[in-house]
Amino acid sequence: MHQLELLLLLSIIPLNVHSKVTLTKIVCTSKYPMMIYEKCLIERVNRSLSTITLQQKLLQPIRSVYLNLSIVHFSKGLNRVLYKFNNVDVCDFFVKRRHPVIRFLFEYIKKFSNVNHSCPFQDYIFLRNMAIKNADLIRAPIPKGEYGVMTSWKLNGIGDAEVKGFGVYD
Ligand SMILES: *[C@@H]1O[C@H](CO)[C@@H](O)[C@H](O)[C@H]1NC(C)=O
Ligand SMILES: *[C@@H]1O[C@H](CO)[C@@H](O)[C@H](O)[C@H]1NC(C)=O
Ligand SMILES: *[C@@H]1O[C@H](CO)[C@@H](O)[C@H](O)[C@H]1NC(C)=O
Repeated sequence: MHQLELLLLLSIIPLNVHSKVTLTKIVCTSKYPMMIYEKCLIERVNRSLSTITLQQKLLQPIRSVYLNLSIVHFSKGLNRVLYKFNNVDVCDFFVKRRHPVIRFLFEYIKKFSNVNHSCPFQDYIFLRNMAIKNADLIRAPIPKGEYGVMTSWKLNGIGDAEVKGFGVYD
């Protein structure tokens, strides 16, 4: 899938009101001693609303961030990568705002986050109670099943971290 196709899927096609997305799991790992995940959790508010909270403590200013992101569909033991991009320069994104998919995601995320500027990032990066409502997520006639949003991050050129979110669409 190309960026523009993904954007169209996310933003234009009306939601099938009978479909439902349930977040099932979020996993955060950091192999970078200068960045610690203090919180990484999903909270179920009620039947139709869950929230994601992430809190990252930075023991050193983060001056460079690269991101790989992929969306994977898990079905009968087959993992199909629906969408993927590699090596997004996140610091540069905050200066130029060029990447359309990241821009779309950031427009959604920013009201739940303290990130509102470019690098360096210091002290804490957090997402607080980011609401994931059915209608926000998937508005496309895509296959039912389990999905994962896999992200891996390279911090200051040396540190590796991953955040993986899983959900079921049915
Ligand atoms: C779930 O909680 C949200 C936020 O408190 C509320 O707006 C919504 O109406 C609730 N939905 C149901 C089905 O209770
Ligand atoms: C970013 O947010 C902080 C508070 O979280 C605020 O003090 C600061 O002025 C904001 N910066 C910009 C560029 O919006
Ligand atoms: C992203 O993927 C590319 C290609 O597999 C790899 O070389 C790079 O190290 C990855 N970057 C991150 C941030 O994981």
